[in-house]
Amino acid sequence: MKQLSLICIKLMTYLQYKRALRALFLVAFALMWIIVASHVTPVLGSDGITNIFKPLAQPAQEIKETSVLVLLVSLVIFVVVAGLLLYALIRFRHRAGDEASEPPQVYGSNQIELAWTVMPVLIVFVLILVTSRTIADIQNRKPPQGTVQATIVGHQWWWEIRYPELGIVTANELHVPASDGRGPRPTFLKLESADVAHSFWVPQLAGKTDLIPNRENLMWIEPTQPGTYLGNCAEYCGTQHARMLIRVVVQTADDFDRWAREQQQAASAAATAVEGRKAFFANSCVNCHTIRGTSAQGKFGPDLTHLMSREMLAAGVVPNTTDNLRAWVRDPQRIKLGCLMPNMQLTDQEVDQITAYLQTLK
Ligand code: CUA
Repeated sequence: MKQLSLICIKLMTYLQYKRALRALFLVAFALMWIIVASHVTPVLGSDGITNIFKPLAQPAQEIKETSVLVLLVSLVIFVVVAGLLLYALIRFRHRAGDEASEPPQVYGSNQIELAWTVMPVLIVFVLILVTSRTIADIQNRKPPQGTVQATIVGHQWWWEIRYPELGIVTANELHVPASDGRGPRPTFLKLESADVAHSFWVPQLAGKTDLIPNRENLMWIEPTQPGTYLGNCAEYCGTQHARMLIRVVVQTADDFDRWAREQQQAASAAATAVEGRKAFFANSCVNCHTIRGTSAQGKFGPDLTHLMSREMLAAGVVPNTTDNLRAWVRDPQRIKLGCLMPNMQLTDQEVDQITAYLQTLK
């Protein structure tokens, strides 16, 4: 310890005071850069996937236009205020001989006070008008013919997705049709929560809307370009909040209708994996999961009827591969610590059998 302080003292005397200050500034700047960059890069999205400035659907497009206008107005105000400040700092800086005389004393000016009261009021008024028009546009949208209705229920930490009119229940991957030349085909979402507050946010499709217990929130999306859009829960909801990811799969109208027809089918009763099926129904899996067409009717966990049609496992945490599925069945806590599915203490054989059975759920 004594050695260390000696080194420090030597170092400080070696560096002159100004140099130390410069070094300190450099370190502070580097730290600030790391903090800012790590927040800015994901927002701007180097791969363009979750870029809020590259909306690919309504209402995200309309929200972006309003945001850009507000940002521009703020930028102009910032440049004017900072410019005047800088001008005053330089123009009226301390000069030799200033001590002898006092600067002119100004006691209020009606014109200036009027100007800096009226101008901000006008600016705020314009911003209120533009913002309320955008909000009204989005909230007053009526579902046209052919609208898809879906209910999304937030759970710790996954998304239950129901299409009441189509009779489909799935999880974590919302399929919606793209609006094309044949007319608008938006998806209207009813947002609910089974436990705590969550927030549904797919940046390229729409703004955030919270999912609140005992309350029904509404939102809609109308994408035009097929593709997979990533989003996440945007309201802290517990330990695995950061891994409560949502995927929105936008399909052409025909692809979406085909997907819906497949999802409407009951679970395939494959003749293979008989042992796995037995093991699944012998354990408490059935208390939490539904497999339509079987006696498994649990409601706490995701519906597994067409598990293999989903790209990811555990709400977007790992790809839906054989290895990951096996690891999940063996001990979900190793993949998603704190999730409500416990380690069922299955034997190696049971793990393999149940995995094989789950893989028949296409
Ligand atoms: Cu759900 Cu954060």
